Parts: sequence; C-alpha cells; structure tokens
Amino acid sequence: MIIITGGAGFIGSNFVLDWLAQSDEPIINLDKLTYAGNLQNLSSISEDSRHIFVQGDIGDTQLISRLLNEHQPRAIINMAAESHVDRSIHGPEDFIQTNILGTFRLLESVRSYWFGLESGSRANFRFLHVSTDEVYGTLEKNDPAFTETHGYQPNSPYSASKASSDHLVRAYFHTYGIPVLTTNCSNNYGPFQFPEKLIPLMIANALAGKSLPVYGDGLQIRDWLYVTDHCRAIRRVLEAGIPGETYNIGGWNEKANIEIVQTICALLEEYRPGSNFQHLITYVKDRPGHDRRYAINAQKIERELNWKPAETFDTGIRKTVAWYLNHPQWIADIQTGAYRTWLEKNYHGRQ
Ligand code: NAD
Ligand code: DAU
Repeated sequence: MIIITGGAGFIGSNFVLDWLAQSDEPIINLDKLTYAGNLQNLSSISEDSRHIFVQGDIGDTQLISRLLNEHQPRAIINMAAESHVDRSIHGPEDFIQTNILGTFRLLESVRSYWFGLESGSRANFRFLHVSTDEVYGTLEKNDPAFTETHGYQPNSPYSASKASSDHLVRAYFHTYGIPVLTTNCSNNYGPFQFPEKLIPLMIANALAGKSLPVYGDGLQIRDWLYVTDHCRAIRRVLEAGIPGETYNIGGWNEKANIEIVQTICALLEEYRPGSNFQHLITYVKDRPGHDRRYAINAQKIERELNWKPAETFDTGIRKTVAWYLNHPQWIADIQTGAYRTWLEKNYHGRQ
C-alpha cells in the first residue's frame, strides 16, 4: 500500500479518487483536517475499504512511525501543506510549522523506517514530495519558462517554506540515500478547490452576486493545469521517476488573471443565459510581493516519462465551471462551515 498526506485537500482528494479508480492498491490518507481539509470531497468512497483515513499531523512522529511500521507502505506521497499565499502573508507561522518542520519530522520518521527495511524493499521505496513552481520566484514577460535547474528564489512566506521543504527532501537523498522524488507543479484548477483560490473564488462570488476582486492590474500570469492531469503526472513520476530527480509539471497554459476572470464570467453567462457577471469585476489593492509571472517548462517529464496534459485550458475550465454549478451544496457547506462536521456525521460509529 501507499500513504498520501494531505489527501483531504484539493489535489489530494482528486488524487485519492483517481488512484482508487485506476488501481486496487490500498491508500492510507493522513490529513490533519485544517480548514482546507474536507472529507466531503471523499464521500463517494466512504464505504471503500481500500481507503483508510487517519486524522493526524505530518509532524506527529509517533503517529507516523506507528503507521509506517504497521502498514509497511512501499511509498509516501507528501502533499500536506499550508498552500495559500495570501494566508502566508497574513500569518506565516503555520506555514513554517507544517511545510518546514512537518516535512522535516516526516522525513525523520521515514528515515528510521527506511533503514529498517530489507534491501529489496529499501531500493523500491519512494518518498514523493509534491512542490510548486513558486519556489523558482518570478519571471519577466519574455524570460524562458522555469526548467528544473532554475535557481530557487522564493518571494512569499509560502514559497519560502515550500523551498525549504524541497531542500530538506534533497538533503535526505544526498545524505542518507532515501529514494526521493520531487515534483514542482504550476497552478492547478478543477473540482474540490477551496474557494479562497482565484478560480473557485471567482465562480462562488459571481454566483452569489458579489464583486470579483482582481489584485493590482490583473496582468499577472499563471500557468494553469487541470488537476487530474497533475494527479496523472504524480502517478507517472511515482512509477518511473528516477530517485533524486525533480520533475516540473505544467500545462503550457499561460494566462493573465484578468483573462481567467473574464473567461469564467463568459462561461457562467453561457450556462445561465440572460445573466451578466462582467460588471462584478473590481480591481483591488495588489498582493504584497506579488510574483508577476510563472511558466513551467515541462519538457523533461514529457521526454523522460512520456507524460503530457490531456486537457487544454478551454476544456478544463469548461468542466470546472460546470462542476461548481452542479455542486452548489459543496460551496454552501464551505461557506457556512458545515463541511467541518462531516467527519462526525459520516464516520461516527463506523470504527
Ligand atoms: P490544500 O490547501 O487544498 O490541501 C492541503 C491539505 O493538507 C488539507 O487537506 C489539509 O488539511 C492538509 N494539511 C495541512 N497541514 C497538515 C499537517 N500538518 N498534517 C497533515 N495534513 C495537513 O492544498 P492543495 O492545493 O491541494 O495543494 C496540495 C499540495 O500541492 C501542497 O503541497 C501544495 O504546496 C502543492 N501544490 C499546489 C498547487 C495548487 O495550485 N493548488 C500547485 C502546485 C503545488
Ligand atoms: O503556482 C502554484 C501555486 O498556485 C501553488 O503552489 C499554491 O498552493 C496555489 O495557491 C497557487 O498560488 P497562487 O498565488 O498563484 O494562486 P491564487 O489562486 O491564490 O492566485 C492566482 C492569481 O490570482 C495570483 O496572481 C493572485 C490572483 N488573485 C487571487 C485571488 C485569491 C486575484 O487577483 N484575486 C484574488 O481574489
């Protein structure tokens, strides 16, 4: 079996659902259930015995060691993190705790587990660390896209904490020989994304008739990837990636934020004929230290692991807008906080 951390978050829950759709290998899902963890995302597999949910912190070495020794996983995928840049600006402490100290403690538990394995299992074991393109810093308009050898120049407390965790992961390969893999991905979008991030926030606000807050001039550029393409890339790296290597993952979809917001409005207007959302667009004060442009060069993973995104931005954003339109209760439960009682409601009395 494998362990995933952060599997109740946006990418994690998409990954767990995909994993169980593609394979019969059980998956242990360790998640602290911060505000960003939502077990409603996994309600369709609540009866599936191949999914074992454990509420806990990646920094809890006792818990992690117990899980490792009890279940003897062949791999760990580390997705647990504080992930929102704006929150890291308002309060960096949680980012340091989870992204840096949590990853360090997780690596320490893995180190002692891994050294205790017999040589075959040791060679086959993988620690796959899920990271971000934001560790590379920002690009000017005409700069080439980030390759895996681009220097680390993180600019926000979030990206600095992710960069630190990447360095620790790298050090555990070089110092102890643990077979690690690191992936650095661009902006994801799709179902189950917490409506604090650009795309779901704009959809949720538009549907509620609220303003659509565009930071600064709205001309910052992000490189968008549909979430299931990211999940497929992670599965591929786990399967065939070379220990110690890093793989950039991206969708070749550079878009300015304002273009994204206008596209969402146009799609909503198409799905709801007669409505108008463009007038809700409001320019607001910029994010401090706002990175101007990210762009991923994904040639390495394409060339070496034969991975390519299946969705274009046009197909992915259509599916995404349709998904949020079809799941008003999911949005409402987040807005009212009702999703936080899901664990009790669904799992009470099951164990
Ligand atoms: P998310 O915020 O939606 O989910 C994070 C999950 O981690 C939540 O379920 C939360 O409860 C859990 N968690 C947080 N702290 C924990 C801790 N100490 N112990 C155990 N669980 C904890 O994040 P996401 O957008 O799904 O991102 C997942 C990973 O992918 C992160 O590592 C992020 O840095 C990385 N990433 C995200 C994107 C993106 O666009 N969303 C792009 C590239 C990389
Ligand atoms: O690049 C990968 C990263 O993408 C991940 O590592 C992060 O976990 C993920 O949150 C995301 O970071 P961003 O800061 O790029 O995503 P966010 O959705 O917060 O913002 C996208 C862009 O939209 C960014 O330029 C800021 C802008 N924005 C965002 C919000 C929430 C707005 O203009 N208005 C908003 O209200």
